[in-house]
Amino acid sequence: MADLGSVDYNTSIPNNVNLADDRRVLKALEKWHPGYLNWWNNMGPDGFQESLVYLRTAVSVDPKGWAKFGYVKMPEYRWGILLAPQEEGRTIPCGEHAGQPAWQEVPGEYRALLRRLIVIQGDTEPASVEQQRHLGKTAPSLYDMRNLFQVNVEEGRHLWAMVYLLQKYFGADGREEADQLLYRQSGNEDHPRMLGAFNEATPDWLSFFMFTYFTDRDGKMQLEALAQSGFDPLSRTCRFMLTEEAHHMFVGETGVGRTIQRTCEVMKENGITDPYDIDRIRSYGVIDLPTIQKKAHMHYSLSLDLFGSEISTNAANAFNAGIKGRYKEAKIEDDHKLDSATYPVLRLIDGKVVISDEPALSAINMRLRDDYVKDAAGGVNRWNNIIKKQGIDFEIKLPHVAFHRHQGEFSAIHADPDGKLISADEWNRRRDEWLPSKADGDFIDSLMKPQWEAGKYASWISPPKVGIDNKPGDFEYVKISGAALNA
Ligand SMILES: [Fe+2]
Ligand SMILES: [Fe+2]
Repeated sequence: MADLGSVDYNTSIPNNVNLADDRRVLKALEKWHPGYLNWWNNMGPDGFQESLVYLRTAVSVDPKGWAKFGYVKMPEYRWGILLAPQEEGRTIPCGEHAGQPAWQEVPGEYRALLRRLIVIQGDTEPASVEQQRHLGKTAPSLYDMRNLFQVNVEEGRHLWAMVYLLQKYFGADGREEADQLLYRQSGNEDHPRMLGAFNEATPDWLSFFMFTYFTDRDGKMQLEALAQSGFDPLSRTCRFMLTEEAHHMFVGETGVGRTIQRTCEVMKENGITDPYDIDRIRSYGVIDLPTIQKKAHMHYSLSLDLFGSEISTNAANAFNAGIKGRYKEAKIEDDHKLDSATYPVLRLIDGKVVISDEPALSAINMRLRDDYVKDAAGGVNRWNNIIKKQGIDFEIKLPHVAFHRHQGEFSAIHADPDGKLISADEWNRRRDEWLPSKADGDFIDSLMKPQWEAGKYASWISPPKVGIDNKPGDFEYVKISGAALNA
């Protein structure tokens, strides 16, 4: 039997699931492959398909050394199917079947539920590639361009991961769903992506960094929940995806951090102490901190919406079925069934924001969102340390969960960033104090000029502390050729 740590590159689709002996699935995937490449070429990074990009490719699932780096043209990237190794004797971690052996095949009674979850997860992966496809042209450096493309090819691989599950375990309807994943398009009026946040454009690089910090982190939490699945192939797939996902959040956190760093340095160099001296700060070609705060408000609130309703029967059903667990389910000390447990949920009752104890089973989404909020706070603290170190009096804050919501308890009301309920009038009047205005967007847009000289960076962002794969500062992460050069 093949060593699960290493990946078979002999079939057209690299994999560690022994596709060579699984002719039916191999054939189905080979049939899907040209459509995927067609999608990548039409909807992937615009103008850079001929360029050589210094990318990591997964060559094993060994946590200590799973990737190898090298130049590759993106359409020739070896997208593969990689599952974390099977755990001997793994059991279903939660719900009514807790403690029974994990399923290696789809349990009939949960087939529709499982398929839906896999399709929703799968739909987000290519969506973000579509949202980001124009960004290469305005990359602030080759280093950043390379990171963008790395995230993009890995989101492409995550699509493969979900398509493998659909084609291996869901027969004809799985194949149909796999085709639909290439048919829906971000922002398309007739056949949009499934979730709202994945139909919004990513217009500039600060949005990209915010997206990878806040929205990829929602993805991480969803994957964490699915990694707990009693359906073992889904769990193993998600566990390996999480390894890659860490880099996406690194790109977001350091991207925002380097933007903040540059702003603070320029303020200091020019003797500006007031972070609200916006026109002057902007005149030096950097993004003022209040605007960065507004972008954080926006992306954080849109990402909270992705967790769905605080009280949810669907979420309760998925947990009870053992299809989806809580964040770090195995480490939680309780009965993992939640028959009688309660969980505190922030609700809107009689026009007031109050904490209400609800059945824990119904509050699964809420709990995952709470875990997300904690997880998202870490990087924000590190951003604030950068500001503090430069001696500037400003703090980036995550807004109250009632602020700017379109899903769940608070979607019907307006609240300011501190969670104070306000009228629609006041919201409309003050919106631009809290969220990026058209003028803010135009200003950021005006800074989005490409800087493609190796080792150089656009005016608004600092260089990274260390290179990717320990490369020196002037390393040529992308060798640009083809359409991008003529643009
Ligand atoms: Fe992903
Ligand atoms: Fe990601």
